[in-house]
Amino acid sequence: MKVTVFGIGYVGLVQAAVLAEVGHEVVCVDVDQNKVDNLEKGIIPIYEPGLTPLVTSNFEQGRVTFTTNAERGVKHGEIIFIAVGTPPDEDGSADLKYVQAVAATIATHMQTHKIIINKSTVPVGTADKVIETVSSTLSKLNKEVTFDVVSNPEFLKEGAAVNDCMRPDRIILGTESKHAEKKLRELYSPFNRNHDKIIVMDVRSAELTKYAANCMLATKISFMNEMANLAELMGADIENVRKGIGSDPRIGYQFIYPGCGYGGSCFPKDVQALVRSATGVGYTAKILEAVEAVNYRQKEKLFDYIMDHYKGDLKGKTIALWGLSFKPNTDDMREASSRVLMEKLWEQGAAVQAYDPEAMEETQRIYGSRSDLKLMGTKEATLSGASCLVICTEWQAFRAPDFNLIKEQVSDAVIFDGRNLFEPSLISEYGLHYYAIGRGMSVKGL
Ligand SMILES: NC(=O)c1ccc[n+]([C@@H]2O[C@H](COP(=O)([O-])OP(=O)(O)OC[C@H]3O[C@@H](n4cnc5c(N)ncnc54)[C@H](O)[C@@H]3O)[C@@H](O)[C@H]2O)c1
Repeated sequence: MKVTVFGIGYVGLVQAAVLAEVGHEVVCVDVDQNKVDNLEKGIIPIYEPGLTPLVTSNFEQGRVTFTTNAERGVKHGEIIFIAVGTPPDEDGSADLKYVQAVAATIATHMQTHKIIINKSTVPVGTADKVIETVSSTLSKLNKEVTFDVVSNPEFLKEGAAVNDCMRPDRIILGTESKHAEKKLRELYSPFNRNHDKIIVMDVRSAELTKYAANCMLATKISFMNEMANLAELMGADIENVRKGIGSDPRIGYQFIYPGCGYGGSCFPKDVQALVRSATGVGYTAKILEAVEAVNYRQKEKLFDYIMDHYKGDLKGKTIALWGLSFKPNTDDMREASSRVLMEKLWEQGAAVQAYDPEAMEETQRIYGSRSDLKLMGTKEATLSGASCLVICTEWQAFRAPDFNLIKEQVSDAVIFDGRNLFEPSLISEYGLHYYAIGRGMSVKGL
């Protein structure tokens, strides 16, 4: 089938590559000329496992192409995805200007029936707004062309995006159009062979499903972080509590890890956006407000431990930092806990020596060159001259470090672990102090 994807980001690029891989002909349109030029040279703008070979092989075989020419894109696709960003507005609500700009562009160039798909995460009612934009643009241009607008939210996880798109848990289609449903069933049939994963519903329910899913996951994390904070104050160990509650199948083990807060491009903005949407319909979303507030506080947790340990005096200290991306297997730094920590450390006059397996270039892009940030080539290189070690991201490569080396090189022999990677008893055998999230007062300052 002929497909066009507007927006070559985490969602658009992965979806395009996966659709091309099963044989569809995909044109990707972006406003970023540099991104398009790079992709044509085989330079992939993001780190995502398995993505580079998928994009390059499909590009070489002509099944996926990249352009800034919107007219070409609109002409090509009978199915057109909108996969542009929906960042938070000043008040936290989702900013739809990029979605609406694409809707107007599609209307400007379309000559035949199009199925327009909202793949971006958009508030309930956005499909109606897109219909309005397309209709009013068409009528301004005196054009009579039919179209469908479908909500088909994306559930991929960064770090596992290719696999998630290849083997989706579910494919939500928000549409009442039989034509659009038939076409999209055909489009997704290669991903729907094992059992029927397609759930068709009305557009508004589809739009809300995406927010409900992300808000549920964020709620699990903030709930666990609240329990961790209580465990700490009450002398309990959250890791025991986690195992104890996860064993109940109604709760389950997934997504109940305590830590230094959630980040990324989705949970923070989607929780905020649903809170604002709720206000818009006269409802106070109290659980979601609390989820956001708990997370905000949790992102300061490591800094609080560090300040506590050093009695508020960080001036002139060098901190070794492992993990910059908001989670493992991505280079995405949006809303990463590491950023909150680094910025607070810098405010106190401390310097950071950091390492991340994938996110160093992105860190450099965000912060530029500054004397209080050194990006090191290996995790071991961060330790030399550092007072303490802090872990912000649970990359596999950090799970079994050389504790003897840490003890030897880190002058105060202390680890602040925002992801609870180690057993406190093991760390103490190496003569290291260990702070972890919610592991009881006894863990501190062994
Ligand atoms: N990143 C994720 O893990 C994820 C998962 C599920 C859903 N989503 C949602 O998908 C949407 C996209 O997220 P992302 O992370 O891929 O964003 P992104 O910021 O990585 O990419 C967006 C792309 O859209 C392009 N763009 C902006 N305006 C455009 C226009 N008028 N025409 C063509 N291209 C344009 C930008 O240049 C950029 O390349 C968001 O709504 C997000 O909430 C993201």
